[in-house]
Amino acid sequence: MTSADPFGQQAVRRAYDTVAEDYAARLPDTRAEAPLDLAMVDAFAAAVTADGDPSVLDAGCGAGRMSRYLADRGCRVQGVDLSPGMVAMARRDHPDLAFAVGSLTALPFPDATFAGVLLWYSLIHTPPAGQATIVAEVARVLRPGGHLLVGFQHGTGVQDLAPTYSRFGHQVELERHLHLADDVAARLVTVGLREVARLVRRAAGTEKEDQAFLLARTP
Ligand SMILES: C[S@@+](CC[C@H](N)C(=O)[O-])C[C@H]1O[C@@H](n2cnc3c(N)ncnc32)[C@H](O)[C@@H]1O
Repeated sequence: MTSADPFGQQAVRRAYDTVAEDYAARLPDTRAEAPLDLAMVDAFAAAVTADGDPSVLDAGCGAGRMSRYLADRGCRVQGVDLSPGMVAMARRDHPDLAFAVGSLTALPFPDATFAGVLLWYSLIHTPPAGQATIVAEVARVLRPGGHLLVGFQHGTGVQDLAPTYSRFGHQVELERHLHLADDVAARLVTVGLREVARLVRRAAGTEKEDQAFLLARTP
């Protein structure tokens, strides 16, 4: 992290460029998600499409598996991700969908472009200081009455993911920030987004943390 890169995005980009091919191979779809997690995504997709404008930004789309899931539910999806390597995997595996390289802290889209924004485990590498910028960007690109769904590991503190990736043969610098649903909801309020629903479920299977999902809406 430097003054030119206050939120440590260069390391995040390098890390995901390093693991992109492996990530796309190991997580090609939503089989890792619990039915409850997908119920929140289904509710989000239904809310967006019910309003008659299915445009969704998959913000921090990675290799595009959630973009595909949303597209299969009637959304017109645009993905964006910091990592050119991840975007290359998304374009390779989902050539019919649109993907761009860009940062959540400066989304490369005009104001009020999307009826929905999905932040699916993409806020997790940004320290709390950077999150105000990201939620302001999300609010900026959402249309009035637009929907947001955020998914993240629930808790507090920072985890070093280098040992995890090292077990898969990758040397990366990557940290994960845990968040409390109350804190994320409060941050959304500061940019005019109001909580609609939340789900916090206990860790399941190999997970070590509880998982949280927050649906919110612009006025
Ligand atoms: C854990 S992966 C999740 C990817 C995808 N949402 C999924 O569920 O498969 C986190 C993704 O967020 C992206 N990301 C992290 N910080 C970002 C930022 N500031 N701007 C854009 N993308 C970011 C990473 O490059 C990575 O692809």
